[in-house]
Amino acid sequence: MSGQSIYPVSPELAQKSLLTNDQYLSDYKLSIEDPEKFWGDKGKILDWIKPYSKVKNSSYAPGNVDIKWFEDGELNVSVNCIDRHLATKGDQVALLWEGDTPDQDAKITYNQLYTQVCQFANALKEQGIKKGDVVCLYMPMTPEAAVAMLACTRIGAVHSIVFGGFSPDAIAGRIIDSKSKLVITADEGRRGGRTVPLKGNVDEALLRDGTDCVESVIVFKNTGGDVAWFEDRDLDWAEVTQSQPTECEPVAMNAEDPLFILYTSGSTGTPKGVLHTTGGYLVYAAMTFKYVFDYQEGDIYWCTADVGWITGHSYLVYGPLANGATTLLFEGVPTYPTTSRMSEVVDKHNVTLLYTAPTAIRALMAKGNEAIAGTSRSTLRVLGSVGEPINPEAWQWYYDKIGDKRCPIVDTWWQTETGGILITPLPGATDLKPGSATRPFFGVQPALVDNEGNILEGAIEGNLVMLDSWPGQMRTLYGNHERFEQTYFSTFDNMYFTGDGARRDEDGYYWITGRVDDVLNVSGHRMGTAEIESALVSHPKVAEAAVVGVPHEIKGQGIYAYVTLNAGEYPSPELYAEVKQWVRKEIGAIATPDILHWAEGLPKTRSGKIMRRILRKIATGESDQLGDTSTLADPSVVDKLIKENQEIA
Ligand code: PRX
Repeated sequence: MSGQSIYPVSPELAQKSLLTNDQYLSDYKLSIEDPEKFWGDKGKILDWIKPYSKVKNSSYAPGNVDIKWFEDGELNVSVNCIDRHLATKGDQVALLWEGDTPDQDAKITYNQLYTQVCQFANALKEQGIKKGDVVCLYMPMTPEAAVAMLACTRIGAVHSIVFGGFSPDAIAGRIIDSKSKLVITADEGRRGGRTVPLKGNVDEALLRDGTDCVESVIVFKNTGGDVAWFEDRDLDWAEVTQSQPTECEPVAMNAEDPLFILYTSGSTGTPKGVLHTTGGYLVYAAMTFKYVFDYQEGDIYWCTADVGWITGHSYLVYGPLANGATTLLFEGVPTYPTTSRMSEVVDKHNVTLLYTAPTAIRALMAKGNEAIAGTSRSTLRVLGSVGEPINPEAWQWYYDKIGDKRCPIVDTWWQTETGGILITPLPGATDLKPGSATRPFFGVQPALVDNEGNILEGAIEGNLVMLDSWPGQMRTLYGNHERFEQTYFSTFDNMYFTGDGARRDEDGYYWITGRVDDVLNVSGHRMGTAEIESALVSHPKVAEAAVVGVPHEIKGQGIYAYVTLNAGEYPSPELYAEVKQWVRKEIGAIATPDILHWAEGLPKTRSGKIMRRILRKIATGESDQLGDTSTLADPSVVDKLIKENQEIA
C-alpha cells in the first residue's frame, strides 16, 4: 500500500545524479507536450550517418497501426556501440566477462571489440549474409554472443536470438517462422557446473521439416566438448574469422530498417516474433540506460540477464555499449559455486550498477547472510530489478543486504514489446516505495482503463495501457502485422494494451499487479499457458490439459497443470515424471510444470469452454471464492477437483 515506507532521494544523491526531481518533472512535461522537440533533441544521443528531419510519425488507429520514428535518418548500430568510442575509449574495457567458475574471466576493450566485430562481420558476408537476412543466434553467455549481435548490425543482418535454455523444437519453430539463413551457436554452454548441449540442440532442430532455409551453422568452440560435425554445413568460428580483414565497412541503415526479431509468449498460439527497428530502438535503449541507471563515466555495469531475453538485448549489450560503458557478461548463476557468488563478482570487478531479477533476489534471500558473506559490495551505487513484480520483502532485502542501505533501487517495468524501460524510478529524482515501479520514463503515457476501455482517473486499479508511442516500441510481429494489431491494439481502441494490470496510488505511482491475460511469469520468464498446454496434449497419453499460475516463493509463479488422461490410461508416479519431462523436452526446462493435477474432467461451460477462472481459484486453494458457477455444465467436476487439490496440497 502507498501508505507504507518511502525512501526519499537524499540531497547528496540528487546532487551527484544526472537528474533531479525538478528536472524530471519539467522534461517529462515537455516529452509529452512536444514529443517532436523532446525526441528530436534526444535522438542526438546517437551518431547519425544521415540526420533525420522527421521525428515521430505514429498512429494507433484501429486497422491502421503504423509506428515510425526518425524515419528518414540513417545510422549503423555497431558504429554507435563501438566505432564512435574508439577515439576516446579505445583501451577502455567494453565487455567484461566472468565465466561459470571464478577462475574464468576476460576483458575486451573497445579496440578489441571493434576488430572482433569487423572480422566476424566479414565472415558473415563471406557466407553470403547481407542486409535484411535473418541470422539465428543460440549462444552461451560469452563475449562471442555480443560480437555476433554487433556483427549482424554492422552489415544490416537481422538477428533472432533464441534463449540457450530452449529445446530443439523451440529453436526449429523460431528458425522456420523467421526464415533464418544461418545459425550461430557454440559447442556447449556452461551453467552452474553443468554443460548445455547447444550444438547438439541445433543439430536436432535442423532435422525438423522446414528448417532447410538454414544454409550454414557457425560454431564457436567454447568448452571444446565433443560435438557432431557436418562438413557441408558446419563452420568453425575461429577458422572462418581469423584471416578476415580487421575492417568492415558499416552499412547505413534506415532508422526503420529491422534490427532484430525476438520471440516472446502470448496468451494464445505460438510465440510471436517481436520486431524492433534500428533508430528508435537504439535511441530509447541508450537514453533509458543512461538515465535509469544514472550512468556516469567510470561505472562498471552488470546486468545478470541472459542475452536471449529482451533485457539482454537492451541492457546487456545495446544500451550500455551505445553509452560507451563497461558491461559485464556472466556465464554462470548467482549461487554457484558458492551462495555468495553474485556478491563476489560485484567485489571482484568493482561493479557500481547492478541489474537483476526478483527471482534471483528471492533465491539469495532464502540463504540469508550467506549470500553476502565475506563481501563488501562497497562499489555499488544503483541497484535495478526487472522481469516481474518485486515483493516488498525482497525489495527490502535487496536494499538492506546487497546495497547496504546505500543504493537506490530502480524497479523497472517493461516488456519485450516495449524495447526499453517504460515505468521506473530515476536514482536522483524519484522517492522510492518498495514494490512500486513508480513513474513513467520520458515520453511514456501510461493510463489505467476498465474492461470497456474507459480511462480511469486518480488512485485506482485497472488494465495498464499506453496512450501514445515511444521510440523503442515494437513495430510489428514479424510477417504478421494483423496479429500485431489484434494482440496489442484491438482490446482497447487507440491504445497499446500491455496485458498487465496495475494500481496507481495517490502520488501517481504505478504498482504493477501482474498479467491479466493467460501469460505466466515463472522466474521472470514469460510463458503462455497455451504453449504449455499444447506441449502437454502432444503426449500420447494425455487427452486434455489446462495450465494456470500459482504463487511460488522463489519463482514468483509456479506452473500448475490439470491433466486429463486418455481413456484406459491411469495416473502413476512414473507417468507423472514422464509427462513433466515431456514438457521439458518440448519447450525447455523453464516450462516444466511444478504440479500435475490428474483430473478426470475439467470445468466447462455448456458450450464447452474451459473455465480457467475456476481452475485458478482451485489451484491456489481459494475454492471458497469461485464466483459465479451458474454456467458450469457439470458442477460435480468442480467439487471433485477441489477435493483432489486438497490432497495434492
Ligand atoms: O508482467 C510484466 C512483467 O514481465 C512482463 C514482460 O515480460 P518480458 O516481455 O519477458 O520482459 C521481461 C523483461 C522486461 C510484463 O508484462 N514485468 C517486467 N518487469 C516488471 C514486471 N512486472 C512487475 N514489475 C516489473 N518491474
